[in-house]
Amino acid sequence: MTALRDGTDLLPWHRPDIRDEDIAEVVDTLRSGWLTTGPKTELLETEVRALVGAEAAFAVTSCTAALHLALLAAGIGAGDEVITTGLTFCASVNVVAAVGAEPVLVDVEDDTLNIDPDAVRAAITARTKAVLVVHYAGHPADMHRLTRLAEAHGLLLFEDAAHAIGATYRGRPVGSFGDLAAFSFYANKVVTTGEGGMLVGRRDLVERARLIGRHGIDRPIWDRQGSRTRAYDVVLPGIKYNLSDVLAAIGLHQLRRVGELVDRRAALALAYTSRLRSVGGLVPPAVRADVRSAWHLYVVRVRADGTAAGRDAVAEDLRRRGVGTSVHFIPVHWFSQYRSIRRHDLPVTDRAGHEVLSLPCYPGLATADVTRVVDALRDALAAGPAAEGGAPCTAS
Ligand SMILES: Cc1ncc(COP(=O)(O)O)c(C=O)c1O
Repeated sequence: MTALRDGTDLLPWHRPDIRDEDIAEVVDTLRSGWLTTGPKTELLETEVRALVGAEAAFAVTSCTAALHLALLAAGIGAGDEVITTGLTFCASVNVVAAVGAEPVLVDVEDDTLNIDPDAVRAAITARTKAVLVVHYAGHPADMHRLTRLAEAHGLLLFEDAAHAIGATYRGRPVGSFGDLAAFSFYANKVVTTGEGGMLVGRRDLVERARLIGRHGIDRPIWDRQGSRTRAYDVVLPGIKYNLSDVLAAIGLHQLRRVGELVDRRAALALAYTSRLRSVGGLVPPAVRADVRSAWHLYVVRVRADGTAAGRDAVAEDLRRRGVGTSVHFIPVHWFSQYRSIRRHDLPVTDRAGHEVLSLPCYPGLATADVTRVVDALRDALAAGPAAEGGAPCTAS
């Protein structure tokens, strides 16, 4: 429980799973005398690479940084188009704009809310360079069709796997399908370092990204410590995106228990879905047969009055009943910056934007909490749209 300012207790929408072993690893790092990128970061890279089965990995300050580096390393820029979805966090689209390329939004599939391969095919032009696939809520996108499509059209495939560490598609880890993939270790993610991310994928592209993300310096400081700190060259105009050992230490043990973390999330999701069968006015999340979702989010679609205000009123009512929620996502093209973004028809995205509501789903949640949330949701829906409106929390 979290105490709110007005003294009421709130079941938080999210709480990280931090254990003594995580704290001990951070303390060990603080005592080691080496705080920036070094042995702990290298270990995190090695272990993510092994988990995903990727050729290479570069630990960075955020998933946004990883996505930005992916585009820079692949040489995507002015005149290029990148196809992605609007039902994502603004970062997926911001990075495309940041390198001077044009983001093009296509619709999502109605069951998983993942990018629709048919819509991607219809949006490909002579200027299309890449498809940026978001594994929404941790449920893998249709990688069979998307990889075939990218191959057939000579496109780069990037995975925004911010939500999906530990997920598999047809038994293969998410993050192993694209030329490059980006994971997030943001505070509310399945594995967290508070802030952080990881770029994985093709060795040539990851090594180029490492160079760009390290000021364009050809040798890392960890390799140059001692008397050789001056032994480096700057070989391109880089930026700084490297993760510190202090943050890497937070994630090391979580990564080792990622299977357990995902299993617990999956058990909670199952508990929600079975209890929600008796609740009218909403649709629980779909799960396809050939995947293991990471269950970063448990997203229901609230069919209150078909408007975002109706959904927001339910969220506000839940908050008054002591249950925190969030919204993933406000579609990107609803924001002022992106109102005129190039896009194809987005009926499923728009509808989802009015309906999606993320319920608490994290390892520290008790099964009794799930029952409590479902009871509160049933009561909130029964109270109807007369409930006072209000903006729910919209954490990324
Ligand atoms: C789909 C998606 N992509 C990218 C990001 C950016 O992640 P980060 O905060 O690690 O930069 C987020 C953040 O939540 C996200 O949800």
